[in-house]
Amino acid sequence: MSSSASLLAASESTASTRQRVGGAVVRQARLQDAVNIFELVNSLSGDGTLLRRSYAEICENVRDFHVAESEAGVFLGCGALHLYGPHLAEVRSIVVKPEAKGQGAGGRLLRALLEEAEEQGVVSVCLFTRIPDFFFHFGFRVADRTTLPDKIYKDCQACPRLYACDEVAMVRGPLPKIAVLGPTRIAKQELVKLQEGHIAHPAEEAARDSPSVPASQNEK
Ligand SMILES: CC(C)(COP(=O)(O)OP(=O)(O)OC[C@H]1O[C@@H](n2cnc3c(N)ncnc32)[C@H](O)[C@@H]1OP(=O)(O)O)[C@@H](O)C(=O)NCCC(=O)NCCS
Repeated sequence: MSSSASLLAASESTASTRQRVGGAVVRQARLQDAVNIFELVNSLSGDGTLLRRSYAEICENVRDFHVAESEAGVFLGCGALHLYGPHLAEVRSIVVKPEAKGQGAGGRLLRALLEEAEEQGVVSVCLFTRIPDFFFHFGFRVADRTTLPDKIYKDCQACPRLYACDEVAMVRGPLPKIAVLGPTRIAKQELVKLQEGHIAHPAEEAARDSPSVPASQNEK
């Protein structure tokens, strides 16, 4: 039984699974949180602190997210755990509102994501960051980014900073031994070949079939 599940069984209350320290509460995100998540994450995407996430992408992946909120229910921050597979998960989009920093919400979000990885049976958790010192507190260590091909194929290949990346790759737990993402293995000849050249409009074909009738005679 997972730690959250055992907590739940002990108290028979969902509220007891919430982590409450110093006023902030961390819980699984709901679709209604998507707007707050979208605005906060993208407020820090301009300078590359966080990857830009579209609203649609956040809604689609909202079950990856946890949010931190005050006891009054005010949104304070968020973080996501992306599952590549049993071999690897990634902490993404972890951020706390500027006015809530330094009060423990970021640490609580990260612990909730690590607990979720554990519940999913994933022992290797990675992330890319500019602030490795924060993550050292939670057992992450710096890693060679080439040991994380899944991350590279998911995000780095399409990133404008691919050859000027200022982020540090970090891992908690053993390095993954396998990867599931990579160059497509679909052979080109399996794809449907597009028709080459000009495709005639039906009206052009009709005119070609009766070339002796001038266009003006067809008009009424
Ligand atoms: C990183 C961030 C989420 C931390 O949230 P927070 O709520 O301020 O962090 P906490 O108050 O829970 O701090 C937990 C611990 O980490 C330490 N810490 C916090 N920010 C740190 C930083 N930037 N560098 C080093 N240590 C840091 C705290 O001192 C605290 O240590 P302690 O337990 O020994 O007292 C927050 O600063 C943030 O939103 N930053 C901008 C977004 C960002 O850079 N996200 C990371 C992208 S990978």
